[in-house]
Amino acid sequence: MEALPTTDGRLDGERGERPGETALRATGVGRSFRGLHALTDYGLELRRGEILGVIGPNGAGKTTLFNVITGFVPATAGRIALGERDITGLPPDRIASLGVARTFQNIRLFGRMSVLDNVKTAQQLNRRAGFWETLVTAPTFVRKERELDSRAMGHLESLGLGRFQSALAASLPYGSQRKLEIARALATEPRILLLDEPAAGMNAQETAELTEFIREIHGRFGLTVVVVEHDMSLIMRLCQRIQVLNYGRVIAEGTPAEIRTNRTVIEAYLGTE
Ligand SMILES: Nc1ncnc2c1ncn2[C@@H]1O[C@H](COP(=O)(O)OP(=O)(O)O)[C@@H](O)[C@H]1O
Ligand SMILES: [Mg+2]
Repeated sequence: MEALPTTDGRLDGERGERPGETALRATGVGRSFRGLHALTDYGLELRRGEILGVIGPNGAGKTTLFNVITGFVPATAGRIALGERDITGLPPDRIASLGVARTFQNIRLFGRMSVLDNVKTAQQLNRRAGFWETLVTAPTFVRKERELDSRAMGHLESLGLGRFQSALAASLPYGSQRKLEIARALATEPRILLLDEPAAGMNAQETAELTEFIREIHGRFGLTVVVVEHDMSLIMRLCQRIQVLNYGRVIAEGTPAEIRTNRTVIEAYLGTE
């Protein structure tokens, strides 16, 4: 695949990344909404290549955490860094172009667009001068368009969504819509993928399939993954490490085995279910 320049001037495939180094560091991160502390003194050393689970009751601050990391909602305290680079306060498109992609708790697809076009629009988000570049290089427009098409198609096929390419996104079965959301996030070629309740609304069979799907793309694309999920089978099967949030604070952190038997967690989290 052709290497695309990233916004920090380096080339894909020359990221100089090693598994085990810190992919993302959050220090003392907070976010309040009119006095409500949605996230307080949040800390994380996310290791490159790991799959981290974030769990906690509704309203614990999980989505706020993703919003703050991706710049959708600015932090009101603390710092966030990607590798050595401080990204605190950067707008969402800059953070996305630095290799952080997310999905949303509520599916956000272009329902009346084809599955293929959904992936293509996501790909374009990651092209630095996308639109203008296209204008000023009009003679190569057709070639670029074809290139984008075949890339998007290859992407869909590799995720098992190829046969849906021309279907309207809204017409897809629910589980496939969730996959398409992940496919759109992957189309931006992220290093870090944040999944917000990817199994929401799925039955046990669909959840098991999704769990395998996430494991597979994690390996294939060398991703670092943070997954927020209520489904404990997915969390326990997938994650090397789990953080538990309650009222915006990390109340426990550990391996699945440690979390399963943690008293504070059982009382604060499982007790409310
Ligand atoms: N944009 C916002 N404006 C006001 N309050 C918000 C906003 N986003 C989240 N909150 C509040 O912050 C708290 C944490 O919400 P959220 O991060 O969505 O929790 P979770 O994803 O763990 O269910 C909740 O009390 C929620 O109402
Ligand atoms: Mg949420």
